[in-house]
Amino acid sequence: MVTLAQKLLKWYAKNGRDLPWRVKGGAHPNPYAVLVSEFMLQQTTVKTVIPYFERFMQRFPTIESLAAASLEEVYQYWQGLGYYTRAKSLHTTAQLIVKQGYFPKTRAEVLKLKGIGSYTASSILALAFNQPETVIDGNVMRIICRLNAFTSPLDEIQDLIREKAEALTDTTCPADYASAIMDLGAMVCTPKNPQCLLCPWQSDCLSRKRKDLESIPQRKKLPKKEKVGYVYLIQNKQGEILIRLRTEKGLLSGLYEFPWSEEKLFSQAKETNKQVLHVFTHFKLTLHLYTLASEHATMNGVFVPIEKLSDYPMSTLMKKVMKIAL
Ligand code: ADE
Repeated sequence: MVTLAQKLLKWYAKNGRDLPWRVKGGAHPNPYAVLVSEFMLQQTTVKTVIPYFERFMQRFPTIESLAAASLEEVYQYWQGLGYYTRAKSLHTTAQLIVKQGYFPKTRAEVLKLKGIGSYTASSILALAFNQPETVIDGNVMRIICRLNAFTSPLDEIQDLIREKAEALTDTTCPADYASAIMDLGAMVCTPKNPQCLLCPWQSDCLSRKRKDLESIPQRKKLPKKEKVGYVYLIQNKQGEILIRLRTEKGLLSGLYEFPWSEEKLFSQAKETNKQVLHVFTHFKLTLHLYTLASEHATMNGVFVPIEKLSDYPMSTLMKKVMKIAL
């Protein structure tokens, strides 16, 4: 009897995407390429990641070259991808691996690296070492729920989904299986307008004939928290703009920014009617723009000529501020 995994692998051999960090037909010969791509793909779509991955691998072709680079340069190659903590963790991880002298191959060792959770650990072990790990992301959950006609809210059936996903995983070629199920989710079993007629599992899928197929999986959406902040365009007599390096732990640390805070910082600043909205994973932030004339490089900042601002790595949020402010 042909198993579901075999049907999927056959579909993948013919229809799977050719991606720059992927090889078909077994483990990737270069675990470093898998590592870089999995970090980039943690919160960013495949389409966006492709050009960033290619530029990154040209500049840092080996794990040693990445470990030896400055964090500032790594940020430059990450600029625009967002969630910069990933870049910092990837850099630290490269240094840890170079120091220990080998690429870790067990789950316990991979989890000791920086910025790698259960999902990324499974992806690396499956894709780079062909280990029988089950990769479960949003796409895979959707496929499993539809295949089994699970209509409960996702967060209530996590264990059941894992059990079903693990039982399906192919143990002869876990690397291809992991890529294949990702592709099925991205290309066929899509959230809207799934292409059931192209699906290798169409005759096995318990939801296929349901009119409400698109409503599986059921998600309970939590409303995003709304935050407000104030950002300051501080200009001196030469027309230079003040930026500062964000050193606080956490979000956006290590990038340059115009001074901003959720509190008002300078009472003499003038309010403008401009604002920037940015959506993070867990909250929405609206920054109100204020201007201030000052000769004093406050908050450990530096005054930089406007045409030099682009030399400093900044988050997408600050690029939006720059665009409306200047
Ligand atoms: N999402 C996370 N890892 C991925 C990969 N290796 N290929 C495609 N999409 C992914």
